[in-house]
Amino acid sequence: MAGEIGRKTEHWGSRFGFIMASVGSAVGLGNFWRFPYTAGENGGGAFILFYIICVLLIGMPLLMAEYAMGRKSGMSAIEGIQSLARAESRSQNWGIAGWVGSLTSFFILSFYMVISTWLMAFLIQSFGGFEGMDASSSGQNFVDTIGQGEHPMRSRWYMLGLLALFLIANIIVVGRGVKGGIEKVATVLMPAFFIMLLVVVGFSIANGDTAKAVSFIFEPKWEDVGFKTFLAALGQAFFSLSIGVGLMITYGAYLEPDTNIPRSSGLIVASDTLVALIAGFAIFPIVFSAGLDPSSGPSLFFISMPVAFGSIPGGAIMAPVFFGLALFAAFTSSISLMEVAVSWLEERQGVTRLGASIGVGYVLFMIGAAYVFSLDYLDFMDFMTEGLLLPLGGLLASYFAGWVLSREMLTSELGEGTIMNAWRFLIRWFVPPFIFLILVFGFMDKIQ
Ligand code: PHE
Repeated sequence: MAGEIGRKTEHWGSRFGFIMASVGSAVGLGNFWRFPYTAGENGGGAFILFYIICVLLIGMPLLMAEYAMGRKSGMSAIEGIQSLARAESRSQNWGIAGWVGSLTSFFILSFYMVISTWLMAFLIQSFGGFEGMDASSSGQNFVDTIGQGEHPMRSRWYMLGLLALFLIANIIVVGRGVKGGIEKVATVLMPAFFIMLLVVVGFSIANGDTAKAVSFIFEPKWEDVGFKTFLAALGQAFFSLSIGVGLMITYGAYLEPDTNIPRSSGLIVASDTLVALIAGFAIFPIVFSAGLDPSSGPSLFFISMPVAFGSIPGGAIMAPVFFGLALFAAFTSSISLMEVAVSWLEERQGVTRLGASIGVGYVLFMIGAAYVFSLDYLDFMDFMTEGLLLPLGGLLASYFAGWVLSREMLTSELGEGTIMNAWRFLIRWFVPPFIFLILVFGFMDKIQ
Protein backbone atom coordinates (compact mmCIF):
# COMPACT_ATOMS: atom_id res chain seq x y z
CA MET A 1 0.00 0.00 0.00
CA ALA A 2 2.83 2.35 0.86
CA GLY A 3 3.91 2.90 -2.69
CA GLU A 4 0.47 3.86 -3.91
CA ILE A 5 0.23 7.14 -2.13
CA GLY A 6 1.50 10.09 -4.09
CA ARG A 7 2.25 13.70 -3.29
CA LYS A 8 -0.62 16.11 -3.13
CA THR A 9 -1.15 17.91 -6.38
CA GLU A 10 -3.26 20.73 -5.03
CA HIS A 11 -1.68 23.97 -3.79
CA TRP A 12 -2.77 27.07 -1.93
CA GLY A 13 -3.91 29.76 -4.37
CA SER A 14 -1.66 32.44 -2.87
CA ARG A 15 0.62 33.10 0.06
CA PHE A 16 -2.00 35.43 1.52
CA GLY A 17 -4.58 32.67 1.23
CA PHE A 18 -2.30 30.19 2.96
CA ILE A 19 -1.65 32.63 5.79
CA MET A 20 -5.35 33.41 6.19
CA ALA A 21 -6.17 29.70 6.28
CA SER A 22 -3.47 29.10 8.90
CA VAL A 23 -4.45 32.10 10.97
CA GLY A 24 -8.05 30.97 10.56
CA SER A 25 -7.11 27.64 12.03
CA ALA A 26 -5.04 29.11 14.83
CA VAL A 27 -7.40 31.88 15.85
CA GLY A 28 -10.46 30.30 17.37
CA LEU A 29 -12.18 29.57 20.61
CA GLY A 30 -8.76 28.99 22.10
CA ASN A 31 -7.94 32.66 21.74
CA PHE A 32 -10.88 34.44 23.19
CA TRP A 33 -12.67 31.80 25.09
CA ARG A 34 -9.89 29.76 26.60
CA PHE A 35 -6.93 32.11 26.78
CA PRO A 36 -8.34 34.99 28.82
CA TYR A 37 -9.78 32.91 31.63
CA THR A 38 -6.91 30.42 31.65
CA ALA A 39 -4.59 33.38 32.10
CA GLY A 40 -6.77 34.90 34.78
CA GLU A 41 -6.97 31.67 36.74
CA ASN A 42 -3.37 30.54 36.41
CA GLY A 43 -1.44 33.49 37.68
CA GLY A 44 -2.37 36.31 35.27
CA GLY A 45 0.77 38.07 34.07
CA ALA A 46 2.90 35.16 35.26
CA PHE A 47 0.95 32.80 33.03
CA ILE A 48 1.25 35.20 30.12
CA LEU A 49 5.01 35.29 30.56
CA PHE A 50 5.21 31.47 30.44
CA TYR A 51 2.80 31.46 27.56
CA ILE A 52 4.96 33.79 25.50
CA ILE A 53 8.06 31.72 26.29
CA CYS A 54 6.22 28.57 25.17
CA VAL A 55 4.99 30.23 21.99
CA LEU A 56 8.39 31.59 20.98
CA LEU A 57 10.72 28.79 22.02
CA ILE A 58 8.48 25.77 21.51
CA GLY A 59 5.50 26.76 19.38
CA MET A 60 7.39 28.61 16.69
CA PRO A 61 10.07 25.92 16.06
CA LEU A 62 7.40 23.24 16.05
CA LEU A 63 5.20 25.14 13.64
CA MET A 64 8.16 25.53 11.29
CA ALA A 65 8.94 21.84 11.64
CA GLU A 66 5.38 20.86 10.81
CA TYR A 67 5.22 23.01 7.68
CA ALA A 68 8.64 21.81 6.58
CA MET A 69 7.76 18.13 7.05
CA GLY A 70 4.47 18.65 5.26
CA ARG A 71 5.98 20.36 2.24
CA LYS A 72 8.89 17.95 2.05
CA SER A 73 6.65 14.90 2.05
CA GLY A 74 3.70 16.43 0.23
CA MET A 75 1.35 14.23 2.21
CA SER A 76 -1.03 14.26 5.15
CA ALA A 77 0.43 13.93 8.65
CA ILE A 78 0.41 10.14 9.00
CA GLU A 79 1.57 9.27 5.49
CA GLY A 80 3.94 12.24 5.45
CA ILE A 81 5.80 11.18 8.59
CA GLN A 82 5.99 7.61 7.34
CA SER A 83 7.36 8.64 3.99
CA LEU A 84 10.00 10.87 5.60
CA ALA A 85 11.00 8.03 7.93
CA ARG A 86 11.29 5.77 4.90
CA ALA A 87 13.45 8.29 3.08
CA GLU A 88 15.84 8.29 6.06
CA SER A 89 15.66 4.48 6.29
CA ARG A 90 14.11 4.71 9.73
CA SER A 91 11.31 2.72 11.31
CA GLN A 92 7.82 3.00 9.88
CA ASN A 93 6.53 2.97 13.43
CA TRP A 94 7.09 6.71 13.46
CA GLY A 95 3.71 6.86 11.78
CA ILE A 96 2.46 6.68 15.38
CA ALA A 97 3.46 10.31 15.80
CA GLY A 98 1.06 11.16 12.99
CA TRP A 99 -1.63 8.96 14.44
CA VAL A 100 -1.51 10.54 17.88
CA GLY A 101 -1.86 13.97 16.32
CA SER A 102 -4.59 13.03 13.90
CA LEU A 103 -6.68 11.30 16.52
CA THR A 104 -6.26 14.28 18.81
CA SER A 105 -7.52 16.58 16.10
CA PHE A 106 -10.57 14.39 15.78
CA PHE A 107 -11.20 14.49 19.53
CA ILE A 108 -10.83 18.24 19.53
CA LEU A 109 -13.29 18.57 16.69
CA SER A 110 -15.76 16.36 18.55
CA PHE A 111 -16.16 19.00 21.27
CA TYR A 112 -15.32 22.03 19.16
CA MET A 113 -18.32 21.38 16.96
CA VAL A 114 -20.63 21.27 19.96
CA ILE A 115 -19.48 24.63 21.27
CA SER A 116 -19.82 25.99 17.74
CA THR A 117 -23.39 24.74 17.68
CA TRP A 118 -24.11 26.57 20.93
CA LEU A 119 -22.63 29.68 19.34
CA MET A 120 -25.06 29.34 16.44
CA ALA A 121 -27.98 29.07 18.85
CA PHE A 122 -26.81 32.11 20.81
CA LEU A 123 -26.17 34.10 17.66
CA ILE A 124 -29.78 33.50 16.68
CA GLN A 125 -31.02 34.37 20.18
CA SER A 126 -28.90 37.50 20.31
CA PHE A 127 -30.97 39.16 17.59
CA GLY A 128 -33.83 39.24 20.02
CA GLY A 129 -31.57 40.87 22.60
CA PHE A 130 -30.81 39.65 26.09
CA GLU A 131 -32.42 42.57 27.84
CA GLY A 132 -33.39 42.13 31.46
CA MET A 133 -31.59 38.84 31.91
CA ASP A 134 -30.10 38.23 35.31
CA ALA A 135 -27.58 35.59 36.30
CA SER A 136 -30.18 33.01 37.20
CA SER A 137 -32.45 33.44 34.16
CA SER A 138 -29.38 33.41 31.95
CA GLY A 139 -28.16 30.23 33.61
CA GLN A 140 -31.52 28.61 32.97
CA ASN A 141 -31.46 29.85 29.41
CA PHE A 142 -28.10 28.18 28.83
CA VAL A 143 -29.22 24.85 30.23
CA ASP A 144 -32.39 24.98 28.14
CA THR A 145 -30.54 26.04 25.03
CA ILE A 146 -27.97 23.29 25.09
CA GLY A 147 -30.69 20.73 24.88
CA GLN A 148 -32.77 20.47 27.98
CA GLY A 149 -35.54 22.89 27.30
CA GLU A 150 -39.08 22.30 26.09
CA HIS A 151 -39.23 25.36 23.87
CA PRO A 152 -38.84 24.46 20.16
CA MET A 153 -35.77 26.69 19.88
CA ARG A 154 -34.23 25.48 23.11
CA SER A 155 -34.41 21.75 22.82
CA ARG A 156 -32.35 18.76 21.97
CA TRP A 157 -33.85 18.40 18.49
CA TYR A 158 -33.17 21.99 17.68
CA MET A 159 -29.53 21.59 18.74
CA LEU A 160 -29.19 18.46 16.65
CA GLY A 161 -30.56 20.39 13.69
CA LEU A 162 -28.01 23.15 14.21
CA LEU A 163 -25.23 20.59 14.62
CA ALA A 164 -26.25 19.01 11.32
CA LEU A 165 -26.20 22.43 9.67
CA PHE A 166 -22.78 23.21 11.08
CA LEU A 167 -21.37 19.89 9.87
CA ILE A 168 -22.95 20.28 6.43
CA ALA A 169 -21.28 23.68 6.12
CA ASN A 170 -17.97 22.03 7.06
CA ILE A 171 -18.49 19.23 4.57
CA ILE A 172 -19.26 21.66 1.75
CA VAL A 173 -16.19 23.80 2.42
CA VAL A 174 -13.73 20.97 3.00
CA GLY A 175 -15.28 18.96 0.18
CA ARG A 176 -14.51 21.77 -2.23
CA GLY A 177 -10.84 21.46 -1.55
CA VAL A 178 -8.08 23.46 -0.04
CA LYS A 179 -7.90 26.26 -2.56
CA GLY A 180 -11.55 26.42 -3.60
CA GLY A 181 -12.96 25.76 -0.13
CA ILE A 182 -10.83 26.32 2.96
CA GLU A 183 -8.71 29.13 1.57
CA LYS A 184 -11.65 30.98 0.05
CA VAL A 185 -13.69 30.90 3.22
CA ALA A 186 -10.75 31.96 5.40
CA THR A 187 -9.89 34.86 3.09
CA VAL A 188 -13.38 36.28 3.58
CA LEU A 189 -14.10 35.37 7.19
CA MET A 190 -10.76 36.22 8.83
CA PRO A 191 -10.60 39.88 7.75
CA ALA A 192 -14.26 40.21 8.78
CA PHE A 193 -13.38 38.61 12.10
CA PHE A 194 -10.57 41.09 12.78
CA ILE A 195 -12.78 44.09 12.06
CA MET A 196 -15.59 42.76 14.24
CA LEU A 197 -13.16 42.00 17.04
CA LEU A 198 -11.86 45.56 17.02
CA VAL A 199 -15.42 46.88 17.11
CA VAL A 200 -16.37 44.74 20.10
CA VAL A 201 -13.13 45.45 21.94
CA GLY A 202 -13.62 49.18 21.37
CA PHE A 203 -17.18 48.97 22.66
CA SER A 204 -16.24 46.94 25.68
CA ILE A 205 -13.34 49.19 26.66
CA ALA A 206 -15.44 52.31 26.21
CA ASN A 207 -18.36 50.99 28.26
CA GLY A 208 -16.86 48.57 30.71
CA ASP A 209 -14.52 48.34 33.65
CA THR A 210 -11.25 48.15 31.75
CA ALA A 211 -8.98 48.69 34.74
CA LYS A 212 -10.35 45.62 36.45
CA ALA A 213 -9.99 43.60 33.24
CA VAL A 214 -6.35 44.66 32.92
CA SER A 215 -5.58 43.59 36.44
CA PHE A 216 -7.45 40.28 36.11
CA ILE A 217 -5.64 39.29 32.92
CA PHE A 218 -2.21 40.83 33.34
CA GLU A 219 -1.34 41.33 36.99
CA PRO A 220 1.13 38.61 37.93
CA LYS A 221 -0.02 36.39 40.77
CA TRP A 222 3.11 34.45 41.57
CA GLU A 223 1.50 32.57 44.43
CA ASP A 224 -0.68 30.68 41.90
CA VAL A 225 2.31 29.45 39.93
CA GLY A 226 3.35 25.79 39.88
CA PHE A 227 4.25 23.12 37.38
CA LYS A 228 0.66 23.00 36.37
CA THR A 229 0.90 26.64 35.29
CA PHE A 230 3.59 25.62 32.83
CA LEU A 231 1.49 22.74 31.61
CA ALA A 232 -1.50 25.04 31.22
CA ALA A 233 0.63 27.51 29.24
CA LEU A 234 2.10 24.79 27.05
CA GLY A 235 -1.22 23.10 26.35
CA GLN A 236 -2.78 26.47 25.62
CA ALA A 237 0.06 27.40 23.25
CA PHE A 238 -0.29 24.14 21.33
CA PHE A 239 -4.05 24.39 21.17
CA SER A 240 -4.00 27.99 20.10
CA LEU A 241 -1.36 27.55 17.41
CA SER A 242 -3.05 24.36 16.14
CA ILE A 243 0.19 22.41 16.52
CA GLY A 244 0.91 18.93 17.81
CA VAL A 245 -2.08 17.55 15.93
CA GLY A 246 -0.57 17.02 12.49
CA LEU A 247 -2.71 19.76 11.04
CA MET A 248 0.07 22.12 10.05
CA ILE A 249 1.89 19.17 8.46
CA THR A 250 -1.16 18.71 6.30
CA TYR A 251 -1.36 22.43 5.50
CA GLY A 252 2.35 22.35 4.67
CA ALA A 253 1.73 19.64 2.09
CA TYR A 254 -0.20 22.16 0.00
CA LEU A 255 2.53 24.82 0.15
CA GLU A 256 4.18 26.16 -2.99
CA PRO A 257 7.95 25.62 -3.01
CA ASP A 258 8.70 29.34 -2.93
CA THR A 259 6.72 30.21 0.20
CA ASN A 260 9.11 31.23 2.98
CA ILE A 261 8.28 28.98 5.94
CA PRO A 262 10.11 30.83 8.75
CA ARG A 263 8.66 34.19 7.75
CA SER A 264 5.12 32.87 7.33
CA SER A 265 5.33 31.04 10.65
CA GLY A 266 6.41 34.25 12.36
CA LEU A 267 3.41 36.10 10.95
CA ILE A 268 1.00 33.37 11.98
CA VAL A 269 2.39 33.11 15.51
CA ALA A 270 2.32 36.89 15.92
CA SER A 271 -1.29 37.26 14.75
CA ASP A 272 -2.49 34.42 16.93
CA THR A 273 -0.78 35.75 20.03
CA LEU A 274 -1.97 39.29 19.42
CA VAL A 275 -5.58 38.14 19.13
CA ALA A 276 -5.24 36.16 22.36
CA LEU A 277 -3.84 39.16 24.20
CA ILE A 278 -6.55 41.57 23.12
CA ALA A 279 -9.48 39.15 23.12
CA GLY A 280 -9.97 39.36 26.87
CA PHE A 281 -10.85 43.01 26.35
CA ALA A 282 -13.89 42.06 24.35
CA ILE A 283 -15.17 40.13 27.33
CA PHE A 284 -13.97 41.13 30.78
CA PRO A 285 -14.57 44.91 30.86
CA ILE A 286 -18.31 44.48 30.38
CA VAL A 287 -18.50 41.34 32.49
CA PHE A 288 -16.92 43.24 35.39
CA SER A 289 -18.99 46.36 34.89
CA ALA A 290 -22.13 44.22 35.09
CA GLY A 291 -20.86 43.09 38.48
CA LEU A 292 -20.38 39.48 37.38
CA ASP A 293 -17.69 37.02 38.33
CA PRO A 294 -15.00 36.19 35.79
CA SER A 295 -16.24 32.60 35.68
CA SER A 296 -14.62 30.23 33.27
CA GLY A 297 -15.54 28.11 30.30
CA PRO A 298 -19.05 27.82 28.98
CA SER A 299 -20.60 29.86 31.76
CA LEU A 300 -18.50 32.89 30.93
CA PHE A 301 -19.51 32.95 27.28
CA PHE A 302 -23.04 31.70 27.44
CA ILE A 303 -24.26 32.85 30.84
CA SER A 304 -22.29 35.95 31.80
CA MET A 305 -22.00 37.55 28.38
CA PRO A 306 -25.77 37.61 27.73
CA VAL A 307 -26.31 39.26 31.12
CA ALA A 308 -23.57 41.79 30.38
CA PHE A 309 -24.96 42.59 26.92
CA GLY A 310 -28.46 42.80 28.32
CA SER A 311 -27.49 45.35 30.93
CA ILE A 312 -25.46 47.77 28.86
CA PRO A 313 -26.75 50.41 26.43
CA GLY A 314 -25.89 49.34 22.89
CA GLY A 315 -25.51 45.75 24.06
CA ALA A 316 -28.38 44.61 21.87
CA ILE A 317 -26.43 45.63 18.78
CA MET A 318 -23.09 44.32 20.02
CA ALA A 319 -24.30 40.89 21.07
CA PRO A 320 -24.85 39.58 17.52
CA VAL A 321 -21.48 41.01 16.45
CA PHE A 322 -19.83 39.22 19.37
CA PHE A 323 -21.44 35.83 18.80
CA GLY A 324 -20.98 36.24 15.05
CA LEU A 325 -17.26 36.83 15.30
CA ALA A 326 -16.88 33.91 17.68
CA LEU A 327 -18.68 31.69 15.22
CA PHE A 328 -16.52 32.87 12.30
CA ALA A 329 -13.38 32.07 14.26
CA ALA A 330 -14.72 28.69 15.35
CA PHE A 331 -15.75 27.77 11.84
CA THR A 332 -12.39 28.53 10.24
CA SER A 333 -10.80 26.35 12.94
CA SER A 334 -13.24 23.49 12.60
CA ILE A 335 -12.74 23.21 8.84
CA SER A 336 -9.02 22.92 9.45
CA LEU A 337 -9.59 20.16 12.00
CA MET A 338 -11.77 18.30 9.55
CA GLU A 339 -9.11 18.62 6.86
CA VAL A 340 -6.72 16.43 8.87
CA ALA A 341 -8.92 13.36 8.56
CA VAL A 342 -10.20 14.20 5.08
CA SER A 343 -6.75 14.70 3.58
CA TRP A 344 -5.65 11.35 5.00
CA LEU A 345 -8.71 9.47 3.74
CA GLU A 346 -8.44 11.11 0.37
CA GLU A 347 -5.03 9.55 -0.13
CA ARG A 348 -6.70 6.13 -0.36
CA GLN A 349 -7.59 4.86 -3.78
CA GLY A 350 -11.15 5.43 -4.86
CA VAL A 351 -11.95 7.91 -2.11
CA THR A 352 -12.97 11.37 -3.25
CA ARG A 353 -12.57 14.48 -1.13
CA LEU A 354 -16.29 15.03 -0.96
CA GLY A 355 -16.90 11.40 -0.05
CA ALA A 356 -14.28 11.60 2.68
CA SER A 357 -15.81 14.81 4.06
CA ILE A 358 -19.29 13.30 4.14
CA GLY A 359 -17.95 10.21 5.92
CA VAL A 360 -16.11 12.23 8.56
CA GLY A 361 -19.11 14.53 9.00
CA TYR A 362 -21.41 11.59 9.46
CA VAL A 363 -19.28 10.00 12.17
CA LEU A 364 -19.02 13.35 13.93
CA PHE A 365 -22.76 13.79 13.85
CA MET A 366 -23.25 10.43 15.46
CA ILE A 367 -20.80 11.31 18.23
CA GLY A 368 -22.45 14.70 18.63
CA ALA A 369 -25.89 13.16 18.87
CA ALA A 370 -24.71 11.11 21.81
CA TYR A 371 -23.52 14.00 23.94
CA VAL A 372 -24.85 17.19 22.52
CA PHE A 373 -25.64 18.43 26.00
CA SER A 374 -23.02 16.74 28.09
CA LEU A 375 -20.76 19.25 29.77
CA ASP A 376 -18.79 16.43 31.35
CA TYR A 377 -17.63 15.15 28.01
CA LEU A 378 -16.46 18.61 27.15
CA ASP A 379 -14.45 19.01 30.33
CA PHE A 380 -12.98 15.56 30.01
CA MET A 381 -11.92 16.06 26.40
CA ASP A 382 -10.51 19.47 27.14
CA PHE A 383 -8.44 17.99 29.95
CA MET A 384 -7.29 15.01 27.90
CA THR A 385 -6.36 16.95 24.79
CA GLU A 386 -4.70 20.00 26.28
CA GLY A 387 -3.25 18.37 29.35
CA LEU A 388 -1.95 15.25 27.69
CA LEU A 389 -2.45 14.51 24.01
CA LEU A 390 -1.38 17.81 22.49
CA PRO A 391 1.93 17.96 24.37
CA LEU A 392 2.47 14.28 23.58
CA GLY A 393 1.83 14.83 19.86
CA GLY A 394 4.18 17.81 19.96
CA LEU A 395 6.85 15.82 21.78
CA LEU A 396 6.78 13.04 19.18
CA ALA A 397 6.73 15.42 16.22
CA SER A 398 9.60 17.54 17.56
CA TYR A 399 11.70 14.52 18.45
CA PHE A 400 11.08 13.13 14.99
CA ALA A 401 11.99 16.39 13.25
CA GLY A 402 15.07 17.00 15.37
CA TRP A 403 16.55 13.57 15.99
CA VAL A 404 15.20 11.18 13.37
CA LEU A 405 15.41 13.41 10.32
CA SER A 406 18.82 14.53 9.20
CA ARG A 407 19.72 18.17 8.86
CA GLU A 408 19.97 17.85 5.08
CA MET A 409 16.41 16.55 4.91
CA LEU A 410 14.86 19.87 5.76
CA THR A 411 17.36 22.36 4.36
CA SER A 412 15.33 22.46 1.16
CA GLU A 413 12.43 23.73 3.30
CA LEU A 414 14.05 25.94 5.90
CA GLY A 415 17.24 27.01 4.13
CA GLU A 416 20.72 27.08 5.61
CA GLY A 417 22.25 29.69 7.89
CA THR A 418 21.33 31.35 11.16
CA ILE A 419 17.65 30.48 11.10
CA MET A 420 18.41 26.85 10.37
CA ASN A 421 21.03 26.72 13.11
CA ALA A 422 18.75 28.27 15.69
CA TRP A 423 15.83 26.11 14.64
CA ARG A 424 17.85 22.94 14.72
CA PHE A 425 19.30 23.74 18.11
CA LEU A 426 15.87 24.41 19.61
CA ILE A 427 14.11 21.46 18.03
CA ARG A 428 16.81 19.06 19.27
CA TRP A 429 17.97 20.36 22.62
CA PHE A 430 15.20 22.50 23.91
CA VAL A 431 11.76 21.51 22.60
CA PRO A 432 11.62 17.77 23.35
CA PRO A 433 13.20 17.84 26.83
CA PHE A 434 11.17 20.87 27.83
CA ILE A 435 7.89 19.34 26.72
CA PHE A 436 8.80 16.11 28.42
CA LEU A 437 9.55 17.77 31.74
CA ILE A 438 6.44 19.93 31.69
CA LEU A 439 4.31 16.98 30.72
CA VAL A 440 5.52 14.74 33.52
CA PHE A 441 5.67 17.27 36.35
CA GLY A 442 2.69 19.27 35.18
CA PHE A 443 0.52 16.21 34.93
CA MET A 444 1.50 15.03 38.39
CA ASP A 445 0.86 18.46 39.81
CA LYS A 446 -2.51 18.67 38.11
CA ILE A 447 -3.95 15.35 39.19
CA GLN A 448 -2.81 15.75 42.79
N1 PHE B 1 -6.35 26.77 17.30
C1 PHE B 1 -7.75 26.60 17.50
C2 PHE B 1 -8.24 27.58 18.54
O1 PHE B 1 -7.50 28.28 19.14
C3 PHE B 1 -8.14 25.22 17.86
C4 PHE B 1 -7.46 24.16 17.08
C5 PHE B 1 -6.62 23.27 17.71
C6 PHE B 1 -7.63 24.10 15.71
C7 PHE B 1 -5.94 22.32 16.99
C8 PHE B 1 -6.95 23.16 14.99
C9 PHE B 1 -6.10 22.27 15.64
O2 PHE B 1 -9.40 27.65 18.81
